[in-house]
Amino acid sequence: MSSHPREELERRFERRHGGPPRVAVRAPGRVNLIGEHTDYNEGLVLPCAVDRDTLVCAAPRADRRCRVFSLELGAEAEFDLDALARRGDWVDYVQAPLFALAERGHALPGLDLGVTSRVPLESGLSSSAALGVGVAAAADRAAGLGLEPVDWARVAHRGESHFVGVGCGIMDPFASALGRADHALRIDCRSQEVRAVPLAAAAVRLLIAPSGVRRQLAQGGYRERVAECSAALDVARAAGIAPPGSSALRDLGPGALPALERVLEPRLLRRVRHVVSENARVDAFCEALAKGDLAAAGALLRAGMASLRDDYEVSTPELDLLCELGDAAPGCHGSRLTGAGWGGCTLHLVDAAASEAVAERIAAGFAERFGRRPEILTARIADGAGALADPAG
Ligand code: GLA
Repeated sequence: MSSHPREELERRFERRHGGPPRVAVRAPGRVNLIGEHTDYNEGLVLPCAVDRDTLVCAAPRADRRCRVFSLELGAEAEFDLDALARRGDWVDYVQAPLFALAERGHALPGLDLGVTSRVPLESGLSSSAALGVGVAAAADRAAGLGLEPVDWARVAHRGESHFVGVGCGIMDPFASALGRADHALRIDCRSQEVRAVPLAAAAVRLLIAPSGVRRQLAQGGYRERVAECSAALDVARAAGIAPPGSSALRDLGPGALPALERVLEPRLLRRVRHVVSENARVDAFCEALAKGDLAAAGALLRAGMASLRDDYEVSTPELDLLCELGDAAPGCHGSRLTGAGWGGCTLHLVDAAASEAVAERIAAGFAERFGRRPEILTARIADGAGALADPAG
């Protein structure tokens, strides 16, 4: 934690709010190894928390006001707990978990809050989940609610989907709240069962290459995919291919694809084919990791990328190139876009010994085509959100 600007945050907190914070928490961003666009279909995902986190300091107030500032944005805001209202900016992600806590019947005091983040914004590492989970955890601690990390995740997800209004799945807040160092989390997004899967941390590195194309989920493509999945499910149910009570594409396995070919228009068939094959890839990837078979794991990443590009159609020329460059580099087992797509970043599974050379090949090749050098991160797989030692003040 030594490099984390916690002291700076606490100093600013005291200056801004006129007293020291009572609690401090951290919540990390996440990267998804495999299982993309499956969470809102009640399927399987395999994310991990990364060592880029958001820090939230808080102190309870005697009234119902909330005051918050963000160090990075150089911005501050005030709102009333009894009049939470969407504004269309970052403050919505602060209000959202408070909205969800109140909805669950928790009595919250007003709060003074300060936020600082090392999760790059709109980069595909889910800065929004880190903020939502961080605020949920800070509010919990400041109000003495005694919640568990899984509650922070649920509260952040409920807030993001019902207050901010983004129809996303549970993956990001679950990864941020429940991550475990050197492990990925296999999350069954239907049962919400979470299993930690060890990564061969000594042998491999995860490189994250930013496409430099920013994206926001609220933009149309994501909602469109969610709607397409739901439309495909309607057709599958009406044709008797999905069970009558089915609530998600999770209910369809690879065996259903031939029958679906007869009833779905080609675009919807491609969407379903991605979801169905991607669920299978998550378990195959876990098996490959368990056997230490990195070649098989890499092949699954490449297959996942092809499916996201050709069937789910969420890639871009930048993401395609980053993956091609990675896959062509010696020591790289496989690459794929990670997160929603349309920008954000790619993930590359590489031998530890080759990681610098692979990063250089990707950066140089990308610069040659797009005229800018991406700054490639080596992600360390971190623990999920938690309280930091109480501030001294
Ligand atoms: C975004 C959403 C997640 C998930 C991914 C795609 O990151 O926030 O819930 O749907 O896209 O896998």
